[in-house]
Amino acid sequence: MPSTVRQESCDSRRSCHCRPDSAAASVDSMNAQNITVIGLGQMGAALADAFLTAGHRTTVWNRTPGKADALVERGAVRADDVAGAVTASELVVVCVLDYAAVREVLAPVADSLRGRVLVNLTTGSPEQARAEAEWAAEHGIGYLDGAVMTTPPGVGDSANMILYAGGPGLLAEHRAALAVLGDPVDLGEDAGSASLYDAGLLGLMWSVFGGWLHATALTGADGVPARDFTAVATRWLKTVSWFMTGYAEQIDAGEYPGEDATIDVQTAAIGHLLHAAEARGIDNRLPELHLELMRAAVRAGHGGDSYARIIESFRK
Ligand SMILES: NC(=O)c1ccc[n+]([C@@H]2O[C@H](COP(=O)([O-])OP(=O)(O)OC[C@H]3O[C@@H](n4cnc5c(N)ncnc54)[C@H](OP(=O)(O)O)[C@@H]3O)[C@@H](O)[C@H]2O)c1
Repeated sequence: MPSTVRQESCDSRRSCHCRPDSAAASVDSMNAQNITVIGLGQMGAALADAFLTAGHRTTVWNRTPGKADALVERGAVRADDVAGAVTASELVVVCVLDYAAVREVLAPVADSLRGRVLVNLTTGSPEQARAEAEWAAEHGIGYLDGAVMTTPPGVGDSANMILYAGGPGLLAEHRAALAVLGDPVDLGEDAGSASLYDAGLLGLMWSVFGGWLHATALTGADGVPARDFTAVATRWLKTVSWFMTGYAEQIDAGEYPGEDATIDVQTAAIGHLLHAAEARGIDNRLPELHLELMRAAVRAGHGGDSYARIIESFRK
């Protein structure tokens, strides 16, 4: 996902390991600030590395201390314990396995966190994020819940998004510092929003991966290299995103006029995909699910509507 974004701007798509041309800007010494990163797994280490690269004074702590070594060699300050990590900076970023680990690490130092800003970039559910925001508020801690929409190599590239929720004011205050990780996207006051979007966006990614892999297996059965098919497929995704933008308007309006292509037409078209894949011995469970959803809409009398109507099948 991130390497695709980065490689789009590079001529040498197959072997490129160049720095992204959209790398976030570094700060001058006047704007350098103290920032703490707790959790130095693959993602936490990338976050700390981006702060260091930007010129911030970065304090780090990890349960397994050795994971801080490379960052310390690059200029990070190693905190001996969590309390030392928390008190080193006004802005404290945490990125560990899950919310249970966040609480396990931070509950003993809640008093030290009072008056500071905690940015939680750990993945969790909207419910967990809201509970964490409540816990932070009870302890007088400023709280931003976030979701990193890339893998570690994409951190520090402003083409990639970091979603934030729960504190538009806090985000505005710390936007410059956080922007070195990726483009900050403000999702508003509800602390659960970043996790909600994250869950939905990951679902979208897996669905796209599934459709692309099915199609790549289909075309590959006739000898088309994945690279060749994917070059065309990624252009098609831009058209698909244009369809989605129009269908979003229909969904918000609750009306699905089949002005461009009807479900009836697409029910016929998917038959060709199923046939071609079947003839090549490709597993068809994924398009069969799409066919099932289309047929349900047709049975309910909506064959003349647009594909956006299918959302009603997901809403139980
Ligand atoms: N990797 C990605 O592409 C990616 C993308 C977006 C979001 N994220 C999210 O970022 C978070 C971290 O992922 P990662 O890829 O960095 O995972 P990781 O490499 O497995 O690192 C996990 C981190 O959590 C720490 N940890 C786990 N349980 C702990 C506990 N009970 N107390 C203290 N520390 C604990 C680990 O410490 P030790 O080193 O001591 O084990 C390590 O620092 C996850 O929530 C993940 O969903 C990851």
